[in-house]
Amino acid sequence: PDFETADTPLAGRHVLVTAGPTHEPIDPVRYIANRSSGKQGFAIAAAAARAGARVTLVAGPVHLPTPAGVRRVDVETAREMLAAVEAALPADAAIMVAAVADWRAADAADQKLKKDGSGKPAPLPLVENPDILATLGKHAKRPALLVGFAAETQKVAEHAQAKLARKGADWIVANDVSGDVMGGDSNSVHIVSRDGVESWENLPKDAVATRLIEKVADALSARPD
Ligand code: CTP
Ligand code: CA
Repeated sequence: PDFETADTPLAGRHVLVTAGPTHEPIDPVRYIANRSSGKQGFAIAAAAARAGARVTLVAGPVHLPTPAGVRRVDVETAREMLAAVEAALPADAAIMVAAVADWRAADAADQKLKKDGSGKPAPLPLVENPDILATLGKHAKRPALLVGFAAETQKVAEHAQAKLARKGADWIVANDVSGDVMGGDSNSVHIVSRDGVESWENLPKDAVATRLIEKVADALSARPD
């Protein structure tokens, strides 16, 4: 677009971001979750808004303020997150930062589960959640640029390459979590694409966000609208 400037390279673009964990109910008072803080995803949404994009942030349960200029949709479960993501399409770029729970209880109970006095907990059957990133990878309204995140503790680039292919993404931002970053304020990332691996030095999450959004803007400007 002609109103594009150096300061707002994403003007006229819609960027969709997922962030945070999901909570999968077991019964009315219990759930399955993970330690995702949502900080990296919120920082990316904020950076996209600063770059002039229209931003939809689909957020799992986190206690973080909504970044300026961002439209936030709060969800709890993976299935709600998928529905909110599909409802937000079309988007020029989608950046899936959420730590989606891989499994949910097969049948969430309507009433609080009680101990039965036997000393043996009842089994908790699980089923796999839908894969939101993979769903977008083969979607009729697939965003032009589709980016996933992957937290890995070993063989970081190798696992990320496999996820790239399996999910039909353009990039996987592989996060080396062999140290302690969950909930921390910096990240060591490798951008894995079909062209290879680009490794960045350990950076504050805000700097990772700014640099990733610059790269997104470059990639989108190299493509037709
Ligand atoms: N993802 C998703 N929906 C899921 C699971 C993952 O959209 N149900 C997305 C995440 O948001 C992330 C990417 O897929 O962008 C990779 O997530 P990850 O948990 O690393 O991948 P999995 O396929 O779940 O593999 P793993 O067994 O390593 O957890
Ligand atoms: Ca997973």
